[in-house]
Amino acid sequence: MVTTALPHSRAEFVALHSRHSSLVLECHADEAPLWRYWGPRLHAGATPGLPLRDSRPLPSFMLDHDQPLSAMPGFGVGWFGQSALLAHRNGRDFAFAPQRCTWQLADDGQALTLTLHDDVADLRATLQLALHAHTDVLRVQTTLTNTADTGSDALDISWLAAATLPLPSHCTQVRSYAGQHMVEFLLQVDDLTRSTWRRENRRGRTSQDCFPGAVVCTPGSTEDSGLVFGAHLAWSGNHQQNIEWLHDGQYQWQLGEWLAPGELRLAPGASVQTPEVVASLSTQGLNGLAANFHSELRRRLPWHGGAMKPRPVHLNTWEALYFNHQLPDLMDLADAAASVGVERFVLDDGWFQGRHNDRAALGDWWADGQKYPQGLQPLAAHVVARGMEFGLWFEPEMVNPDSDLYRAHPDWALQISGRPMLTARNQLVLDISRPEVSSYLFDKMHALLSALPISYIKWDHNRDLACAANAQGQAAWRAQVPAAYALMDRLRAAHPALEIESCSGGGGRIDFGVLQRTHRVWTSDCIDALSRVDIQRGFLQFFPPEIMGAHIGTAPAHSTGRTQAMAFRGAVALPGHLGVELDVRHLDDNTRTQLKGWIALYKAWRGHVHQSQVWLGDADDHTVWQLHGQAGGADFLLLAYRSAPSSQRYMRAVRLPMLQADQRYRLRVVAPEGLPEDQLYCGSAPFFDALRGADGVVVDGSWLQHAGLPLPRNKAETAFIVHLQRL
Ligand code: GLA
Repeated sequence: MVTTALPHSRAEFVALHSRHSSLVLECHADEAPLWRYWGPRLHAGATPGLPLRDSRPLPSFMLDHDQPLSAMPGFGVGWFGQSALLAHRNGRDFAFAPQRCTWQLADDGQALTLTLHDDVADLRATLQLALHAHTDVLRVQTTLTNTADTGSDALDISWLAAATLPLPSHCTQVRSYAGQHMVEFLLQVDDLTRSTWRRENRRGRTSQDCFPGAVVCTPGSTEDSGLVFGAHLAWSGNHQQNIEWLHDGQYQWQLGEWLAPGELRLAPGASVQTPEVVASLSTQGLNGLAANFHSELRRRLPWHGGAMKPRPVHLNTWEALYFNHQLPDLMDLADAAASVGVERFVLDDGWFQGRHNDRAALGDWWADGQKYPQGLQPLAAHVVARGMEFGLWFEPEMVNPDSDLYRAHPDWALQISGRPMLTARNQLVLDISRPEVSSYLFDKMHALLSALPISYIKWDHNRDLACAANAQGQAAWRAQVPAAYALMDRLRAAHPALEIESCSGGGGRIDFGVLQRTHRVWTSDCIDALSRVDIQRGFLQFFPPEIMGAHIGTAPAHSTGRTQAMAFRGAVALPGHLGVELDVRHLDDNTRTQLKGWIALYKAWRGHVHQSQVWLGDADDHTVWQLHGQAGGADFLLLAYRSAPSSQRYMRAVRLPMLQADQRYRLRVVAPEGLPEDQLYCGSAPFFDALRGADGVVVDGSWLQHAGLPLPRNKAETAFIVHLQRL
């Protein structure tokens, strides 16, 4: 037995810099690089000077070998915190501590590859870190290779962090999202303490319950100022993140897949690559961080032809008709939709063979013979003839036991032999990692996409995974994710102009992974505008408004029973990717005119809102606001939403620090044509009256920055929308 001493080789400091952030690693040839810094931008040449161990005396009763936080903390060889890797070979080779390390900086200085060898455990890990020079977004991904000789036992992995990030000791709070169906992006704020903060998701999809990311705040950080950190795992399956306090006062933040037992086993010679962690920091508070994430996502979105076209107004048939598809009704609905300005007609659930309720037919992806005796062609042609795109709903991963598909292939459903087949919404999940299953789905979808003018798919996934074993009896949560991605990629390769919406019982599959092959998400099945205000604000922390499916629903809202005026419904949906989810055929003239007005207003503003930054703010007294525009830009759109009656006699002004101090802005109320007077604002004062005039009101930028814009004392469930135009 040979034991090895740990004299450390010479340290080399390797740094990546972006506009507003830097990271520094202390690299040694004989161990994993030590984290020295991830924080606000340092001077290009700044280094810590001394190796870390030279500046921290050993506390009493410690190992004589000091092990600080590394880029890939090990297990069993002197690191006592959370390890980035937990694995073994039949009980052996459980320890991990690389003894050799090489590092390579990309020519442009923005990316770093670290290669770590553990010659005792026979493992090689490659960490890729890339810091985008302009967006301040750090992407990290880890590849692990089992370098043991052929014939050795497989490496059984229970945890492999995609990234281990350092957080400074003055971090105090973590903002994450909990929730459930209809309550996406429910903000949860936890204090960071010496107890580990951990979120885990085992539902087999991104989930509404546990968003794969969080924001960590330092004291005094606000919406627009102060240091905050954010990270997100670009993955649509099970996941885990931990923030662990360390004895040097800092924290380590790990994100990765949550793995079911036996789910990740590497044969000798095999490699696995983790999903990517997308992380960033900002000294401009939560809004600065959101801007970084939005820029990164905008860079990744897979627009056909390389650029986003204006986001077309949708009509989604679900809440208008549910399963009740009658061709004449649908054609009338399409006519009515076109007449109010809808640009894309999406035929939701209910169109395929035998689908008359949610108890049957998933898997039988051809048009129902009774409802559509000539297939979907007449409806699609009707829609296209009215100048609209035609979109179609699928739920590819799912099967109802009452379906031809299941009757022919009951073994295609994920199941654990000897355990009950747990249904959800009467459906089971197909093992789409099986080539014959994904080929079946591809063939069915491809046939429809080839025969019909379908330019859009709403891709749903309406249940959690349970009893998810493959035909070999092995856990199969994980394999579903790359299989779903591959099926999407295959369809997009065959139909390059196809756009896909990611839906999962509303917002159960919203993440940067699925958004590398999809173009919109269905934010929530809750279309109640009041609920949507909060849901959308959570969403906007990570994702930009142009992919946020935001529909004007009916009143009362089907999800909550609450009734809101069209003016409020329109104003809440306006800054997203607008859609209509109601039966446009049966609106009274007044409501119809208003709806048309909101659609026209959306079309006038989408080009601006969908390419600009969004700042969120809270005006207190049940009023929140958001501003869309470019820093230093000429046009801003302010939307202030009041959710409950005022309890203050006078409203607090909204300070807008993102405007330019030395400029003046013309302010005018923005409203769709046909908006009833009492929906615009209440309480008259000369300032607000003037805002509605053609000339508006001119206000000094520094005044708006520091003293602020007065808000009207509106009624509950109303919006106040203002255009600020630089003179
Ligand atoms: C899910 C979606 C809805 C709708 C239904 C159809 O709940 O979120 O928008 O498509 O499925 O069954």
